[in-house]
Amino acid sequence: MKVFAYSYRKFDEAPYFEKYCKELGIELGYTEEDPTLENAHLAAGYPYISILLTRVDAALVEEFARLGVKMISNRLIGVDHVDVKRAKELGIRISNAPYSSNCVADYTLMLMLMSIRRMRQILRRNEMNDFTLPGIQGMEMANLTVGVLGTGKIGRVFAEICRGFGMRVLAYDKFPDPGSGLCYAALPELFHQADVISLHCPLTDETQHMIDAAAIAGMKPGVVIVNTSRGALVDTEALIEGLRSRKIGAACLDVYEEEAELFYEDRSEAIIEDDTLVRLIAMPNVIVSSHQAFLTKEALNNIAAVTVDNLLKFGRGEPSPDTEVCAPKEQDQRRS
Ligand code: NAI
Repeated sequence: MKVFAYSYRKFDEAPYFEKYCKELGIELGYTEEDPTLENAHLAAGYPYISILLTRVDAALVEEFARLGVKMISNRLIGVDHVDVKRAKELGIRISNAPYSSNCVADYTLMLMLMSIRRMRQILRRNEMNDFTLPGIQGMEMANLTVGVLGTGKIGRVFAEICRGFGMRVLAYDKFPDPGSGLCYAALPELFHQADVISLHCPLTDETQHMIDAAAIAGMKPGVVIVNTSRGALVDTEALIEGLRSRKIGAACLDVYEEEAELFYEDRSEAIIEDDTLVRLIAMPNVIVSSHQAFLTKEALNNIAAVTVDNLLKFGRGEPSPDTEVCAPKEQDQRRS
């Protein structure tokens, strides 16, 4: 079996991925570059390709199909960056790599705690030997209600962690699970009651900008918004306006609508052209990180193992219901 991996930066994932490929006799070709129409030809002769987060639109899917690609395996969970519908029409199978949900849930907790206890301001003051106390009062978790949007694998672990801290948890999901023991609420009610709102839905046409100006208008003053899912769940301009007007007390963003051109590269010497991101980073009550909630050694090992398992199953023509990605409508039908 031959697989070609794009966006294969020789960083943390390589040792895990290479170990499994070697053990199972998979021939691995790779490039650090993200897939584009210009470098699609690198996949020629490889029926299986593996990608990360870069946009693979209809034109690129068509080019891969022309080159004989039969499967696109995503080394991550969300697949909103791939034109799944077009791929399916062309007979290309798509897989994702669900992995331990704890990495993202833990990271979400960290962001929430840092925000509620004003850790960004505390660290900034300490760097300047400013050890004063005014202006950095926090809140106690056990007095807060957290609204969890999306109660799939990550949302549930996060909800459980929050309960452990004594928080009241309200949940919202398109497909609520009555057996989950979670207290589900309609979205307006959740917005009205939650002190913290944490997003764990996939990015779809339906969820894009689910946090917009109207949603923010219905939220509690001072609400903390945490997004470790996908940037475009939040209308960033509306978020900034909410922060500016003090309706939103704080925001923690591991993902950002326009992250594709920015994240995962060293831009410390560059002038960032994206004024919206610059503005967010400059706000003392905003924490921005670069889509790294997944970055644990357990998750990287897991991703490599699941990706290689997908490749082998697909290669043998076996079904892989947990990792095969269907077109969005089909996915909804499966769940309802
Ligand atoms: P999952 O598929 O287990 O759960 C997603 C949940 O969202 C499901 O319960 C589903 O019913 C619900 N949902 C779907 N459409 C909805 C809608 N219109 N309204 C409300 N709920 C809806 O996925 P999992 O594993 O929990 O991951 C969630 C998301 O986390 C991924 O889609 C991905 O975008 C993001 N993620 C971020 C990472 C990071 O490093 N920051 C790493 C891994 C995942």
